[in-house]
Amino acid sequence: MKVDGKHFRSIWFDDDSGTVKIIEQRWLPHEFRVVELIKREDFATAIRDMWVRGAPLIGATAAYGVAVQMSIDPSDASLDETWQVLHETRPTAINLRWALNHMRELLKPLPESERASIAMRRAAEICNEDVECNRQIGLNGLELIREIAAKKKPGETIKILTHCNAGWLATVDWGTATSPIYHAAEAGIPVHVWVDETRPRNQGAQLTAWEMVGHGVSHQLIVDNAGGHLMQHGEVDMVIVGTDRTTAHGDVCNKIGTYLKALAAFDNNIPFYVALPSPTIDWTVKDGVAEIPIEEREDAEVTKVWGKLEDGSVASVQICPDGSPAGNPAFDVTPRRLVTGLITERGVCKASPEGLAALFPEFAK
Ligand code: MRU
Repeated sequence: MKVDGKHFRSIWFDDDSGTVKIIEQRWLPHEFRVVELIKREDFATAIRDMWVRGAPLIGATAAYGVAVQMSIDPSDASLDETWQVLHETRPTAINLRWALNHMRELLKPLPESERASIAMRRAAEICNEDVECNRQIGLNGLELIREIAAKKKPGETIKILTHCNAGWLATVDWGTATSPIYHAAEAGIPVHVWVDETRPRNQGAQLTAWEMVGHGVSHQLIVDNAGGHLMQHGEVDMVIVGTDRTTAHGDVCNKIGTYLKALAAFDNNIPFYVALPSPTIDWTVKDGVAEIPIEEREDAEVTKVWGKLEDGSVASVQICPDGSPAGNPAFDVTPRRLVTGLITERGVCKASPEGLAALFPEFAK
């Protein structure tokens, strides 16, 4: 997608410098910074400290992390250790494990002399595949938006609520939840996006809103608690969110607060869709609430808020009394009964074992 009219991906291999580059997302929306990741520890830090975030982008970054490490030390020990080091950076998004397993299975049988070049090529392909998956998700989601538009008066705006950032910054390009929105906007369908701010880290306020501004998509930032009220008053036509891990039975783990939006949507009979590329499906788990590990993050994300001061500088301020402890679960699970459908690169399916198995028979057991 575009930044000031120039096309960017969230991660890329830069031929000129011979390094992997990323958009350093912690500074957005106030500063646009690009940084190089040179060695394995840079990749681990970038994922752990959320310079990059979003399930598909975490996976793509890990793939490049393996590739870069193979050019430094292509041994089996180095490959196994890299899997371990990168895997422990963030526990919930399954795309991380998917990418690491994929790279290890590809590289292990190869002679060490071939590992670096093949790994680098495969990491680039993983990025390209993510972009193509998200483009297809956009086209499939566009059909759902068209269906909703067909039930409204000609030219009436479709109001879509989204939570967190499942935009192009969370993937390599296009985004998952935002891809149908961008495709609808490009097709001339009037859309308006309710952007949940997404406390504690405010990915909605900082990243999704920035994306919407950058692409001229009509939107309003709302506090996380406003969604239910807007739904009761007919101000939301559909919800589209992303996911960090969807189980083989269709339960959806996503950024904390997603579950409450799904409950409100269900109560108000509003379609609640989840957009995901297939590497986000964890075929090894069924019951999301019982089986998905939920990342617990530091108190400071809750007790402080980061933003721009009136003098233009960026700073973090404390919003609670000294000494108040915080709780900070980063994700929650929306049970499949609350999900209207899953928008994948292969089509839209029910959030059920049968729905997923019909689209992905080669993975379903
Ligand atoms: O903690 P984050 O910012 O990595 O969480 C991101 C999300 O929860 C996204 O909604 C999810 O990864 C889907 S990204 C297409």
